[in-house]
Amino acid sequence: MAEWVKICAETELPPEDEVAEVEAAGRVFCVARLGGAVCVVDGTCPHEGGPLGQGVLEDGRVVCPWHAFAYDLRTGVAEHDASFKVHVFEAEVRDGEVRAKV
Ligand code: FES
Repeated sequence: MAEWVKICAETELPPEDEVAEVEAAGRVFCVARLGGAVCVVDGTCPHEGGPLGQGVLEDGRVVCPWHAFAYDLRTGVAEHDASFKVHVFEAEVRDGEVRAKV
């Protein structure tokens, strides 16, 4: 059953135009700010396991550093092939903490 867990402190979020890799609750996440909202997605690329949190952010998509698959941070769907999808977690900032329903 999903539960809210702390992902990182709000101060650890990257600037609006970047993503970051965060380890929490025994797994790796990719976090970003997008239009003032916090985005938390699975940090492992569903293509071949690349580290999405070490990628770049382009037009609301995180681009995997290994083979450049680009995933929409709001839907998780890969730009060029909808059969590739990264999990998007419900997320919020509360009391200075980024939390996600994991
Ligand atoms: S591992 Fe991410 S695009 Fe290939």
